[in-house]
Amino acid sequence: MDSSTTALLLCSLLWTVCAQAPVVSVEPRSAGVRQGESVSFRCRVVSGSQPVHLEWKRTNNHPLADNVKIGPDGSVLTIANTRNGNQGQYRCVATNSAGRSTMMASLTIKHSPKVRVTPAGPLRVRLGEPVALECHATGRPRPSVTWQRHGTQLVTTKTEDTSTLKVAAVSSEDAGVYVCQAQNTEGVAEVKVEVIVEGGQGAANAPKATVSMAEVTAVEGHMVTMQCQATGSPLPVVSWSKLRAPLPWKHTVEGGVLTLTSVGRQDSGQYICNATNSHGYSQAYTQLEVDSPPYTTSLPDQVRLRPGDTLRLQCLAHGSHPITFRWTRVGRAGMPAGAETIKDGQLLIGQVKLNDSGTYKCVATNHVGSSEALAKVTVKVSLSLCLSLSLSLSISLFLSISLSLSLSLSLSLSLSLSLSLSLSLSLSLSFSLSLSASLSLSLSLRFSLSLSLSLSLSLSLSFSLSISLSLSLSLSLSLSLYLSFS
Ligand SMILES: *[C@@H]1O[C@H](CO)[C@@H](O)[C@H](O)[C@H]1NC(C)=O
Ligand SMILES: *[C@@H]1O[C@H](CO)[C@@H](O)[C@H](O)[C@H]1NC(C)=O
Repeated sequence: MDSSTTALLLCSLLWTVCAQAPVVSVEPRSAGVRQGESVSFRCRVVSGSQPVHLEWKRTNNHPLADNVKIGPDGSVLTIANTRNGNQGQYRCVATNSAGRSTMMASLTIKHSPKVRVTPAGPLRVRLGEPVALECHATGRPRPSVTWQRHGTQLVTTKTEDTSTLKVAAVSSEDAGVYVCQAQNTEGVAEVKVEVIVEGGQGAANAPKATVSMAEVTAVEGHMVTMQCQATGSPLPVVSWSKLRAPLPWKHTVEGGVLTLTSVGRQDSGQYICNATNSHGYSQAYTQLEVDSPPYTTSLPDQVRLRPGDTLRLQCLAHGSHPITFRWTRVGRAGMPAGAETIKDGQLLIGQVKLNDSGTYKCVATNHVGSSEALAKVTVKVSLSLCLSLSLSLSISLFLSISLSLSLSLSLSLSLSLSLSLSLSLSLSLSFSLSLSASLSLSLSLRFSLSLSLSLSLSLSLSFSLSISLSLSLSLSLSLSLYLSFS
């Protein structure tokens, strides 16, 4: 081997040893920009034998998008007006005679969160059934996702970009509006879902009426209001009625409230609230009692008696029970001796005296009020005048045996004037033990006028026994005029 050959060999070996593969760096290694902004990556050759050829590529070997430009020397990659599709990794590939090397740069396009909830609301769930609401959120940087209700954060299960809210058995308190919120540096997004809880077997849909008071007591003439609330869906229509009677004349119904402007005793009774919707109806009851003060009368309210007669006065009262009665004598301190008052309002005097005359007052009282009634009692000795006219026709058959013994004591003063006219026609047929028969016909006309004044004192004892058999037919016409003053 000659020296020139050796030199050439050495030289070529040296060339090989001196030629180095390129080393590159990328600035920046990663970048995040908002959509529409621009970004640049620069690839620098750190070392390696020149010439070095630089090239930019997508890591997925897709072609570079049309908004990606490479500078004249191949080192600078610029993306103007970035869009979502530009996101990803870019490779700077450096090549020289000694070899090739690559360096990565990554680009993220930031965007505010977007939220989607499945299933979408409004969501109808039956009482006791499970419910799961999934919230999917997207956004760069990755947003944090929360579920909230009435401003309170709820416990959820989370995966990458999904937050799931689960209720094993829904109760009526779970009804309401749920909010899924996603937040990152670029913004906040939220979606609301309404959860409607429906009762088992549709019971919550049927109407339910309730009254605020089951019993109401009022005083006559006052105003009364009765309230009725109804639940159900669709919202029930509320109406009021009265058991076995029309509503009182003076009434109004507004928003489930029944108002009776001035109640009377006849308005007492049961009132019915009826809540009706398409699923049925429900009734609730209010019992009204109207209290009234007593209304008092005396029976009789005027009475004339003779000394020794019995006085009986009854005090009557209408109104709320219990009612108590009290008899007094107007203008006198006390009741006459021998006067009895019985609890039910009766006044009794066994034998009245002349000085028991006067006005008696009954006061009836209940828990609402009281009222009074008066009775005028007159006790007097009496005189009488009598005028009588009579006409009679009679047919009679009789048998009579009579024995009488009488004892009587009486004191009487009487003045009487009597005028009588009588006409009688009689036909009689009789049989006697002596076997004689007789038939008689008689006609008589009688007129009498008598005037008598008598004062008598008599004592009599009487005993009588009588047996009589009689058959009689009589026709009588009588006219009498009886005039008495006392
Ligand atoms: C309540 O309403 C229902 C349906 O309209 C009806 O059938 C029912 O008789 C009503 N009840 C009363 C007390 O009015
Ligand atoms: C009423 O008369 C009787 C006798 O007739 C007498 O005993 C009584 O005291 C009299 N009463 C009054 C209140 O005057």
